[in-house]
Amino acid sequence: MNLANKIREIQDFPKEGINFKDITTLLKDKEAFKYMVDALSEQLKGLDVDIVAGPESRGFLVGAPVAYKIGAGFVPVRKPNKLPGETLRHEYELEYGMDALEIHKDAIKPGQKVAIVDDLLATGGTMLATAKLIEALGGEVVSMNFLIELVFLNGRNKLEPYNIKTLIAYD
Ligand code: PRP
Ligand code: MG
Repeated sequence: MNLANKIREIQDFPKEGINFKDITTLLKDKEAFKYMVDALSEQLKGLDVDIVAGPESRGFLVGAPVAYKIGAGFVPVRKPNKLPGETLRHEYELEYGMDALEIHKDAIKPGQKVAIVDDLLATGGTMLATAKLIEALGGEVVSMNFLIELVFLNGRNKLEPYNIKTLIAYD
């Protein structure tokens, strides 16, 4: 299966000069969706993952089916003020301005093994913030898995020394 062929590219979205990778065309294709979930799950074999964490919102679409497939729980990491219980917040810098993500304080027990799954590795900021939240709760980040990697943005450097795996690389 050539998964890259199932991803639609939209020029100048959300801003001029950005070639947006639209995964909705992959998700709606039953063979491609299954292939993606199976391939990401395969990457987690032998890691004894307790929890898959997914950053809002596309990380939910990719992470939750992987959690189901490998028999792990799923924890959402959300944009601010969405989670109803007591939360921990991690703020991080963007190119222009700041962003933040939150997790429920009781989402992960100390020592639990966590894989973080998202659709896209760009600068790595989202993934790093997610990892910081999990580690603040005592979780162990055993893997970071992405459908797509934008290699030219060097997100991997920011995420060293984590165990990073991606299915499709764009140079
Ligand atoms: C996109 C994408 C990743 C993140 C990657 O999410 O889904 O989560 O950007 O970028 P980074 O590596 O530079 O952090 P976005 O924040 O656009 O939100 P969404 O998932 O709700 O669409
Ligand atoms: Mg996202």
